[in-house]
Amino acid sequence: MRSLAKGDALLYDLLMPGDGQLLLPAGTVLDDDYIFKILKMGVWEEALRCVDPDYDLHKRLEAAAARRKDPLFDYALFQEARLVMLKIEECAKAWARRDPVFEFRDGRILRQPIKELVHNILARIRTRNVVDYIDLRVHDVYDFAHPINVCTMSMAMGVALDWGEEDLLLVGVGGLLADIGMFMVPPAVRHKPGRLEVEEEREVRAHVVRGYELLKEFGWLKAASLMAMYHHHERMDGSGYPRGVKGSNISEQARLVMVADVYDAMISDVPYRRRNESGLAHRMITNLAGTQFDATAAAALGKAVGPYPLSSKVQVTGGQECMVILVEPSSLYKPVVQIGEEIIDLAGDPRGRRIVQNIVTRRFYRQKLTLACEYMVETGNRLDGTVLDLSLNGMCIRGRGVRVSAGNAIEVIFILPGTANTARIKGKVVWAKPDTTGAMLFGVATTEMHATNHDQLLKLIMSSMPTGVDS
Ligand SMILES: [Fe+2]
Repeated sequence: MRSLAKGDALLYDLLMPGDGQLLLPAGTVLDDDYIFKILKMGVWEEALRCVDPDYDLHKRLEAAAARRKDPLFDYALFQEARLVMLKIEECAKAWARRDPVFEFRDGRILRQPIKELVHNILARIRTRNVVDYIDLRVHDVYDFAHPINVCTMSMAMGVALDWGEEDLLLVGVGGLLADIGMFMVPPAVRHKPGRLEVEEEREVRAHVVRGYELLKEFGWLKAASLMAMYHHHERMDGSGYPRGVKGSNISEQARLVMVADVYDAMISDVPYRRRNESGLAHRMITNLAGTQFDATAAAALGKAVGPYPLSSKVQVTGGQECMVILVEPSSLYKPVVQIGEEIIDLAGDPRGRRIVQNIVTRRFYRQKLTLACEYMVETGNRLDGTVLDLSLNGMCIRGRGVRVSAGNAIEVIFILPGTANTARIKGKVVWAKPDTTGAMLFGVATTEMHATNHDQLLKLIMSSMPTGVDS
């Protein structure tokens, strides 16, 4: 941002703050003497405003730039969220198959990690002004990312509505667990790319009741969280399920969770459709405010999670890609963006450019590589394989001669290139399939990583990323 300099001309009258007394008239050209007096009288900022018509905008841009560097989900919080989701998934699946290993206490064990996670996410939301529209979402496998996003967005909406701490945590827990029942829906139905048959649709819808029964079994969830979960597919006009309840019978918490749930689902890629453009999804929710959605909850979405969050990338008419650098509450759909050195306030762009679409970027990077590794499935022998694709939350491996299937515990060991250090990563196989050469390809979700590997691994992953973005 600029400073006062000799030779600057005042574009407006410089007035004394408070009493409005005229200090220097518009047109005055500053010299050293004037600058010294301005400093002495403590009207430096006022003088800057008179010299630079965009002073306030520049100040807001500067403040926004400082906030942009600080993502809501840092790596540690992301990993914590991911591990909690893995535990929730395991618990739900064990419950669904009436696993004798599953005991009542499994739900109790989840209490502490869930409460801590929700608490930590809320603490991070509070470190910033929520209406700053920082991207609150994480990008991961949808089954994991969606609950974390619903939890985060519901709490951010609650913060925007000035809710108290206790209510925020209740809505956070309800949001995180809203779709716990989805883990009990067979994967073939849950991940089916096409339209669902009537029976399949019934199975999907049953996730609400089945999840509700499981959560009741946990024995520690407060009624408000439980009802936020149970009513997340209800609608204010009674058009939802499972009960078709409406209006005042739907709790405040559930009203936020249902908006966060729909919004996140709309802007995510899911097996049966591509994601919607985020501005369009926002407008669709706004259009349903007062009918399907509670008007206050829909407005809270705009206050807490704008369609084009700070730091997000968008494409404007003409095909140029730019970064959102400032969002004003009054112009959610027309933020200030930057293309190279050029700063464009879309709300007042003389060329009338507008956003055509948002570009999804992932904060947790992925690198394609060919790295010799050794791996051990369950408690079997060490085998040779190749790491083909690596991120901080998982990897893809090609291996030979052993059956690997989803759910297997796995340990992977490899040398970090450029160092003499070994990375030892424990994880869980999330998918496995044979490739055309007869080798096995499988995906591993990280569950445990040696702490000293984090930075080195991140360096490796980022080392040959030309743009730092994986889309
Ligand atoms: Fe759901």
